[in-house]
Amino acid sequence: MEASRPQVQVQAQAQAQAQAQPKPKEAKLWGGRFEEGVTDVVERFTESISFDKALYKHDIMGSRAHASMLAHQGLISASDRDSILQGLDEIERRIENGEFNWRADREDVHMNIEAALTDLIGEPAKKLHTARSRNDQVLTDFRLWCRDAIDKILVSMKQLQVSLLTLALNNEGVIVPGYTHLQRAQPVLLQHLLLAYVEEIERDAGRLVDCRARMNFCPLGACALAGTGLPIDRFMTSEALGFTAPLRNSIDAVSDRDFVLEFLSVNAITAVHLSRLGEEWVLWASEEFGFITPSDSVSTGSSIMPQKKNPDPMELVRGKSARVIGDLVTLLTLCKGLPHAYNRDLQEDKEPVFDSVKTILGMLEVSAEFALKITFNRERIQKALPAGHLDATTLADYLVNKGVPFRTSHDIAGKSVALCTLKNCQLLDLSLDELRSINPVFEEDVYEYLGVENAIQKFVSYGSTGSACVASQLDYWTKKLEMK
Ligand code: ARG
Repeated sequence: MEASRPQVQVQAQAQAQAQAQPKPKEAKLWGGRFEEGVTDVVERFTESISFDKALYKHDIMGSRAHASMLAHQGLISASDRDSILQGLDEIERRIENGEFNWRADREDVHMNIEAALTDLIGEPAKKLHTARSRNDQVLTDFRLWCRDAIDKILVSMKQLQVSLLTLALNNEGVIVPGYTHLQRAQPVLLQHLLLAYVEEIERDAGRLVDCRARMNFCPLGACALAGTGLPIDRFMTSEALGFTAPLRNSIDAVSDRDFVLEFLSVNAITAVHLSRLGEEWVLWASEEFGFITPSDSVSTGSSIMPQKKNPDPMELVRGKSARVIGDLVTLLTLCKGLPHAYNRDLQEDKEPVFDSVKTILGMLEVSAEFALKITFNRERIQKALPAGHLDATTLADYLVNKGVPFRTSHDIAGKSVALCTLKNCQLLDLSLDELRSINPVFEEDVYEYLGVENAIQKFVSYGSTGSACVASQLDYWTKKLEMK
């Protein structure tokens, strides 16, 4: 059956009435040339106050610096500056106490604060927007906001690294199967694997630090796009706001969003790292692996299956990485093909950034907590170790030490594994005669290389899983993360 379209009732009369007596609206701050106000539909569609009020603190910071500079340059009087500064203090207080009335008809955070300041202090407030446009203002706010967000993420990253290192220090000597292709490959120290995550997060943090440095330039004073004819001092506002310097090019200053693209790329890479950690721990908590037991405090149950205990936080870490990647893609798509300079499309840049930051902070926080609430099941891991001939590569290394070319060693070790498969045993269980039947080069000392405990001791290369290397890496991280 064909679905019928809902009937749209056009209430012509009511509409005509509304048009005849428009409810009185406050004139827009930009309303000089307009004869009528925007419709409610347009107002609802174009407002950004519902989300950009998150920028209020940074908007006020920017206005304080701007007003002080205007006074310093003689563009406003000292007493106007003082009224503006006092008024901004009061507005900040009201916002923080939940007493501020955010109004959608005042569009965005910038106009809400400026209009409220005018309500509060009158004439001097009308001078605040001298030599400033919302285009440079929004970017000043946004860069300041992102800078703070980066600082918060960096703290959370360090907390995760500390948790992972704590987990490593509490699990000395545990050997786990190392995988490639999710097939058993070689034995590794659990500590070595945990430190691999720490390394990944360290590079993510490094990327954030780089991004912060490139972001930390001031758009304020670029105005709409061309700068201004008024004698402002952009270096003064830049310095007051803790920026490295003013952005050199006013068109670039108001049109580019590469600082957020870079920020969201870093978050996306971090999210991908965390999703891999999430996947690994979900897998390891399964009955099939049974390598870890998360505590009840980080697990959840099923509403139908009474026996279930699920590692939901790490599943969601894996899942939420999708949002963080999506936020980056949204922003890339938003910016693609936009003509210079500012376009209203760019108002859409905020929500993906807010979402990305909130999500990545949550992912880091929950991973750090989870890491401190899991137990490694040593016995279960121990039982799992013999399967998969994890010492086969070490056997090949043994043969190389005996002067056998590696390709031949690989072949001999492979044949030894084949014999094990035939006999359903471990390499360690083959007698010297059996090994010699494959190749006479084997001697009694081969048994020093076989079995995972022996094999792990044989790793000596820089960065390898050998106990000595791992110990020195643990030492490095303990110092770097100031855990001693
Ligand atoms: N709310 C706007 C945004 O986030 C502020 C800048 C608007 N500028 C303009 N000329 N309409 O992009």
